[in-house]
Amino acid sequence: SDLTIGVDIGGTKIAAGVVDGGGTILSRVRIPTPRDEAGIARAITDAVDRAGEGWDGVSAIGVGAAGYVDETRSVVRSSPNLDWHDEPLKDLVQRHSGLPVVVENDANAAAWGEYVHGAAADHTVMVMVTVGTGLGGGIVAHDRLWRGRFGIGGEIGHYRAVPEGLACHCGRSGCMEQYASGSAHTRRAREAAAEAPQRAQILLSLGDGTAAGVQGPHIEEAALRGDPVALEAFSSTGRWLGQALADLAAVLDPGVFVLGGGVSAAGDLLLGPTEAAYRQALSGAGDRPYAKVLLAELGPDAGLVGAADLARRP
Ligand code: BGC
Ligand code: NA
Ligand code: ZN
Repeated sequence: SDLTIGVDIGGTKIAAGVVDGGGTILSRVRIPTPRDEAGIARAITDAVDRAGEGWDGVSAIGVGAAGYVDETRSVVRSSPNLDWHDEPLKDLVQRHSGLPVVVENDANAAAWGEYVHGAAADHTVMVMVTVGTGLGGGIVAHDRLWRGRFGIGGEIGHYRAVPEGLACHCGRSGCMEQYASGSAHTRRAREAAAEAPQRAQILLSLGDGTAAGVQGPHIEEAALRGDPVALEAFSSTGRWLGQALADLAAVLDPGVFVLGGGVSAAGDLLLGPTEAAYRQALSGAGDRPYAKVLLAELGPDAGLVGAADLARRP
């Protein structure tokens, strides 16, 4: 059959759905990611069951997981933003469902989804950047997803952007994730709102009134209404992201960057400053082509759709 289930396990939510061969999602389930290992396992099998309910002929399951997936695409070795160590994810889902299962890094799955069915469909070399709880990356070149020797390629969130910089959940410091992820974006807005609440009145009014109560969607909404603190958060996050794209271009020279993850739902608010910073930071700018910088066409579904497609290509 041409139906598979895609699952996307992020630091904040687990999404699952039945997907057809054209990349159309036919059913969907969304649950918050539990904090503990046993809870996550239960939530995943639960999401798979609920997504598949009433659908006959599902032939395989693809799982995109935030973290370091081993080279056999079975085990999550560890994950900076989830409490996971040597999690036998493939076994778990396979035993539960009786179907063949492929596990892939969440951002790799999103890259694949955008390459096959989304913004990068007309490109040969693409880099995906997911701006969410973590900062994820995926590289597809000439129909091949880049996995590296050990399955952990494309971890762009954890290259060092700042020597002696902010502590990262991966155990090191100064990682790009601490500057350009959705978590960094929210942290920045909260800090700025705490420092100058009178400049952040719109932003603060959208939550519980405290800086700590500011959530990602509030920043987008406040920026659209002209809140200066929210607008500045987008311009700094975009500046960091643009620098990351320029550095990635120096190594990989893609034709297109695709921005996904929760923060990319803000569209031009993020895209504008990111693209400007990328163009400014690109080495050899003026003497080489610029890559396109596009928003994920599949939006928050890129990982789910990509994982479902990977399940068709064991
Ligand atoms: C993890 C990646 C993941 C990304 C997005 C990072 O912190 O290291 O494996 O793809 O977050 O979820
Ligand atoms: Na990746
Ligand atoms: Zn890190």
